[in-house]
Parts: sequence; C-alpha cells; structure tokens
Amino acid sequence: MHIEKIHLRNYRNYESLTLDFSPKINVFIGENAQGKTNLLEAIYFMAIGKSFRTAKDGDLIEIEQEGSYAKLLLCKSNGQEKRIEIGLDRLKNKRCKINGVPLDRISELLGTLNVVIFSPEDLQIIKQGPSQRRDFIDGDLSQITPKYHHVLGQYQKILKQRNQALKMKQFRTVDLDPWNAQLVQYGTEIIVYRKEFIKGLSILTRLMHRKITREKENLKLIYQSSIPMEKEESFEAIKSIFLKNLKDLEEEEVQRGVSLMGPHRDDLEFEINGKNVKKYGSQGQQRTTVLSLKMAELEIMKKETGEYPVLLLDDVMSELDEHRQQDLLQSLKNIQTFITSTSMESMEKIENMNLYEVHGGKIKILKKSVS
Ligand SMILES: Nc1ncnc2c1ncn2[C@@H]1O[C@H](COP(=O)(O)OP(=O)(O)O)[C@@H](O)[C@H]1O
Ligand SMILES: [Mg+2]
Repeated sequence: MHIEKIHLRNYRNYESLTLDFSPKINVFIGENAQGKTNLLEAIYFMAIGKSFRTAKDGDLIEIEQEGSYAKLLLCKSNGQEKRIEIGLDRLKNKRCKINGVPLDRISELLGTLNVVIFSPEDLQIIKQGPSQRRDFIDGDLSQITPKYHHVLGQYQKILKQRNQALKMKQFRTVDLDPWNAQLVQYGTEIIVYRKEFIKGLSILTRLMHRKITREKENLKLIYQSSIPMEKEESFEAIKSIFLKNLKDLEEEEVQRGVSLMGPHRDDLEFEINGKNVKKYGSQGQQRTTVLSLKMAELEIMKKETGEYPVLLLDDVMSELDEHRQQDLLQSLKNIQTFITSTSMESMEKIENMNLYEVHGGKIKILKKSVS
C-alpha cells in the first residue's frame, strides 16, 4: 500500500498543508522543531487513530485553533483507493470517516492503513520495562488482527473490574469466580495470539539479524508469560493452568488488591547468542536488535496482511553506521518510506526519491523521483 496524498489543516504547526508523495522513498530535511515528526505523527494518527507521542488528542490541534482536520488518500496494492479523514475539536470529539462513511468507533480504523514506525525512542523497547515491550506487541497485533484489539479491550476492562473486586474482598465476601472465568478466557486468547505472533516474528528477526551481523549473531525472541507453562500448550491447557494458578494466588492478590497473573504481566525477552540483550548487550547490539526487529516487522505485516505497510523512519538514519544504512535501504525496495533527517548527509546515496524541505510548518518539494 502507499499514501498518495495528505492534507492537514490546523494540525500541530501545519496551518494548511497539501502534499503528494512518491510510492517509494520520501525524504524530509529540516532543522529541529520545523514539523518533520509532526508530519509522520499525522500519518501514524490516520493509521492507528492516536498519536505515538501524546495520549491527548487536543495536543494535535494547532495551539490557537478550536479544531483540526486531516485527510489522507491511500492506494492498496490491488489498486483500491481509501480516503481516511479525521476531524478533531477541543470538546474531545474525534470523527473519523473511511471513503466518506463515518465510523462508529475509532478502532474500526485499524487495518486500513498499516504503518511501522522506527524512531530513536524504539531503543526503549529493549531498555525499558515490560510494558514498552507489551505495547510493541499489542500495537502490531492490533493492526494485523483487529479482533485482537477487541479482545485486548475486553481483557483490560475485566482486569480493572477484577482489581476492584479484589480490593472489596479485603472487607467483605466477594465471589471472584465470575471474574476469574472471564480473565482466564480473554487472557488466554491474548496469550495465544501473542505467542503465535512472536513465533513468526522471531524467525524473521533472526534472519534479519544474521544478515546484518554478517552471520555472527543469533537473535532470539522469547515470550515470557507470567503463567507457568511449557513451551507449546494448547488453548485449553493454558486456560486450566491459568485458572489453577489464579486460585493459588488468591490470598496474595486480595492482600495486595491487584491481579498478579495474566498477559498484563507478561514480557518479551531478546537473546543474542544465548545472552539477554537488555542485561548484557552492548549499545551497538541493542541498536542492531531494534533494527532487525523493525525490518522483521515489515515482513510479518506483509505475511499477515498481504501487503507491505508504510514505513516511517524518524531521525534514525544518522544513528546507523554505513553498512546498516545500506542494509536498511536495500530492504525498502517495495515499501513506501518516509525518512526525516536534519541533514542531507547519507541521503545522497538514495537513488530515487522525492526530496522535501520542511521549514516552520511548510513543506516544499525540492526534487521529484523519476518513476
Ligand atoms: N499543537 C501545536 N500547535 C502549534 N504548533 C505545535 C503544536 N505542537 C507542536 N508544535 C510545534 O511543532 C514544532 C515541533 O515539530 P516537530 O515535528 O516535532 O519538529 P522536528 O522537525 O524537529 O521533528 C515545534 O515548533 C512546536 O512548537
Ligand atoms: Mg523530530
């Protein structure tokens, strides 16, 4: 898929922007604080329905304005066109349309435009705590499988209610069974989806990483569940292990007033040649791990949805050494890519691209690709 056109009005520092893109590589050069990330954020917003930088939609509206509007024209690989529109106002109304048809829920947007974003903050997937890694898995799975997004929402709702029930049980009798049954049902669905996804992603990441490290390193992704289970368990088996362990934990859970087991406590581990990357990996290995992961994400999305997503590379090129840049650029042949950078350095070697200059909320095209 590729984005043909975007239009923004009163969005971040774009008062009014209309832009055509190349279906291949689009490079945006500009100094700091000119609007490069804002543009990628707008694309991401129209894919996911929320920003990757803020939980408050109001931040996206140009400071002095009451509302904003964003429109994007998408072309699927089968030639089908999709028009995505999102309107925002300060009263927290978010209105979204696909091909002119209003959506009841923003989540219905998922799966129309698929994106993979790679920014310097992605190093946090390795460095930070488990919640960053769960967010990473949840983000991808929600795009690939809209049903997953729904189940995750249900699970989070039940989790919240169950935690309230646990707190209540400190003072009076509460029957936890109905909460347990639902937590286990939705929780197991999530775990099964995630394990399957990580299995596929692990194979691809390993391949990418071997290539980038010239066969020197073996990278492995391991889904670490809070539920003590063997490697390959059936849906029913996971359910019953989950339920049994939940019973054993009950006393402690009531005391602490929180649910201590389930996919909300799970983690993803990265290992290079058998060693944990977060604990023992060098800065360089951690970066390469993220690069391998991002390249694998593109492939798994292609595998699961039938077409490559759009790739957003925010300020990462200059952080990669020469041959990693080459590896990355080479793998982008059939993928529409948006690259931002503060300098032209290392952009010259990109053969066929649209080149834009970003300055103070305005974008000028400097060079059009020959296609
Ligand atoms: N809601 C908003 N309204 C107006 N300007 C905004 C808004 N949000 C951010 N900005 C401005 O956008 C600029 C940052 O843009 P950004 O895309 O992050 O820069 P960069 O080019 O470095 O990636 C800053 O000048 C900031 O003041
Ligand atoms: Mg930026």
